[in-house]
Amino acid sequence: MKWKQLLVGVMMILSATALVACGSSSTKKDNSLKKIQDKGTLTVALNPEFAPFEFKTLVNGKDTIVGADVELAKEIGKELGVKVKFSSMSFDNVLASVQSGKSDIAISGISVTKERQKVYDFSDDYYESVNVVLIRKSEADKYTSTSSFKNKQIAVQKGTIQETIAKNQLKGSKVLTLTQNGEMINELKSGKVDAVVLEEPIAKGYAEKNSDLTIAKKVTLKSSDADAYAIAMTKGSTSLKKKINKVIKKLKDSGKIDEYVQRAYEQSIKD
Ligand code: ARG
Repeated sequence: MKWKQLLVGVMMILSATALVACGSSSTKKDNSLKKIQDKGTLTVALNPEFAPFEFKTLVNGKDTIVGADVELAKEIGKELGVKVKFSSMSFDNVLASVQSGKSDIAISGISVTKERQKVYDFSDDYYESVNVVLIRKSEADKYTSTSSFKNKQIAVQKGTIQETIAKNQLKGSKVLTLTQNGEMINELKSGKVDAVVLEEPIAKGYAEKNSDLTIAKKVTLKSSDADAYAIAMTKGSTSLKKKINKVIKKLKDSGKIDEYVQRAYEQSIKD
């Protein structure tokens, strides 16, 4: 009896020690928040040709990156008590920049997909949108369904979910992958491509600024993955993610995110 009690006691002590050991090693490993706070700077990777989320505009005569994602990043900087530095690059480099440690996080209208979740941690969603097809207004009657794009040239931005959406849903079309959104729009306007796949707020902005372009209203695309935007960070960034989610919740609950998007949209179509 005594031996049995002793054995149970020893086992309890052992498992408690193991738990403590686990706890301390995992907090030691997750220095995602501390690292940024020690540096005093949060480096954010983005591709600023994605109005209303991130785009360049002249502010007091100076080329400045603005948009809803920029506002969101600034709020995160405030919560963390650090400065925010924006690092511009093409979209297909945005996630890699987080992976290599050059940037702390990526905020770039990034859709959460299962594939991306295998490699990165994502914050809670902060915005939802659908995908649409942008076409020349003069051809609006031609496109009545996704099958109207057979043998047509479709442009999509490199590294985006629109690559897969165009390939899978606009059957029989030829998909051209370009690095810059501005280039896709120019190719569409000049007739080199017939359509561009984009998320709705972005397409709406281009249609508003280019009277020769419009959204194909009868064409509905399904979203293969979640059509929600979230912030990407390296795997295991638990402490950082917690802080970021706190900011997202606050801004979503107060309607601020929608306000940022609306304000940035108006600013972008004025330029
Ligand atoms: N939401 C799409 C994706 O995650 C497109 C994002 C493009 N963003 C940008 N800043 N160009 O693949």
